[in-house]
Amino acid sequence: MRLDKFICKSTLLNRLQAQTLIREGQVMVNQKVIKEANAQVHANNCVTMNKQILIARPPRYLMIHKPANTVCSNVDEVYPSVFSAVGLYSEENHRQYDVALMHIAGRLDADTTGLVLATDDGHWSFNITRPDQHCQKVYRVNLRNQISQQSISAIQQGIKLQGEDKLTRPAIIQLLSPKQVLLTITEGKFHQVKRMFAAIGNKVEALHRQQIGKVKLDIPPGVWRELNQQEIDSFTESNTL
Ligand code: URA
Repeated sequence: MRLDKFICKSTLLNRLQAQTLIREGQVMVNQKVIKEANAQVHANNCVTMNKQILIARPPRYLMIHKPANTVCSNVDEVYPSVFSAVGLYSEENHRQYDVALMHIAGRLDADTTGLVLATDDGHWSFNITRPDQHCQKVYRVNLRNQISQQSISAIQQGIKLQGEDKLTRPAIIQLLSPKQVLLTITEGKFHQVKRMFAAIGNKVEALHRQQIGKVKLDIPPGVWRELNQQEIDSFTESNTL
């Protein structure tokens, strides 16, 4: 981990403040002054600032119920950041969770609602997003047109998306009503669900993610909570579902 990031994780300082202190020579790694903010720090290194030993706090793992018209970004864009929309940028939460250092494992479009997992542990989130892990994501999809049996079979077998060479991986699709399905996919291509239905001549009118791996959304829109240990560990076990 970068030295400036380590300092943010072990103090209440932000990245800029950490970089200033490093430049000023107030930070030592293994009793040697280090003035490069991008120097790498390893678990067995002893980092001190003004002679105080720094201990990085444990990583954070959060479930967020993303409301519509928010973006999966740390900063507000055309729409507010999902972190600010659910109150994680409030004075108190910002200090405790260091939201600026967090990222989202598997982003949703601005108009998509539902389950978002946020963390500052890049190794953990890689288990969710890495393509060869085939982590399952479950979406409730509202469609403009009724879905035919032929379309269901196509999605089950894999379809060709515009601009892609390979077929999508076989998906599980369950009909909830003539225009609503529960779709389970094991990939995370850009706008994947919308493109899958576009490829079969339909249109997604509303999209909601309700599950990632074994973790099920169980909080109301606009609310967040910490993941429990079982949920955290479920992504580091060999099989994510
Ligand atoms: N697929 C999409 O098209 N959009 C999302 O937000 C998530 C999956």
